[in-house]
Amino acid sequence: MAKRSKRPMLIACSLPEEALAVLGEAFDVTVTASPERPDPDQVIAESEGKETLLLSVTMRLTRDMVERMPASVRQIATYSVGLDHVDLTACRERGLAVFNTPDVLTDAVADAAVLLLLGAARRAREASALILEARWQGWQPTQLNGIELAGKTLGIFGMGRIGRAIARRASAFGATVHYSNRNRLPPDLEAGARFHADPNALLAASDALVLSCPATEETRGFLDTTRLGYLKRGAIVVNVSRGSVVIDDALVAALQSGRVRAAGLDVFDGEPSVHPGYMALPNVFMLPHIGSSTIEARVRMAAILRDGLLDQASGRTASNRIA
Ligand code: DGY
Repeated sequence: MAKRSKRPMLIACSLPEEALAVLGEAFDVTVTASPERPDPDQVIAESEGKETLLLSVTMRLTRDMVERMPASVRQIATYSVGLDHVDLTACRERGLAVFNTPDVLTDAVADAAVLLLLGAARRAREASALILEARWQGWQPTQLNGIELAGKTLGIFGMGRIGRAIARRASAFGATVHYSNRNRLPPDLEAGARFHADPNALLAASDALVLSCPATEETRGFLDTTRLGYLKRGAIVVNVSRGSVVIDDALVAALQSGRVRAAGLDVFDGEPSVHPGYMALPNVFMLPHIGSSTIEARVRMAAILRDGLLDQASGRTASNRIA
């Protein structure tokens, strides 16, 4: 494709080279001056003359930013499936089309959920510390006994694509899957999982709970002290959604009291800050928001944005246009 035919795009996040190459094939890309910590004012200035602004969860696209965006910007591409950092209402009002990256990171996030689940169930943080801190004295039948997933009930809160991919994996481990979702799924998507219209009933049935719902006003603070009280004593909690879905003080207290046996967390409210309570608890297995961090997913995320934007440009319906 001749360079002059490529449409101008500002990239306001740091992308792996492979993903940049995918976008560079189709767009005339400029990367913002500080892509790891994009500065909103600078991004607005650099957006002048660009048709597309590509950003990610590293920068909030606030109403103020949307209103100050140069007229040249017609579309926003978020390099994420999550949308909680984008003021969609403001984008709609401004007539900006918004694209995200559904489907393509489902397997990566579901794999990470299993990693967190097993890490919490098998006490991976304590086990790893034993070796790294040179405290390991050798094998003992009493050493770091965890629990198995086989025969347990896994509750999934949020049974979208990611929730269903987690369910498939959990079934392979011999767990029984229950779920709660805004709407009950048709039988082919439910795949034998038991639906609970009431999330509290899901919690009461769960030996382990995975949060894989979208972060919305409705799910903000979902897992609070009251809800934790519904969980089976000694349950495991895993979060691959967003930190805002959990009230950290409440989960820390439940982990301290033993109501929750262990937690596996990939996302944190106010990240990269992590609640100090989690840092002090050996039964919390944590990852730094790497759910979708596989090179395969990163390349597919670039490709789905490229394809959606090209579809839009040629008047076709883009499957990943969400505003
Ligand atoms: C997403 O896609 O929402 C991830 O959490 C960040 O890439």
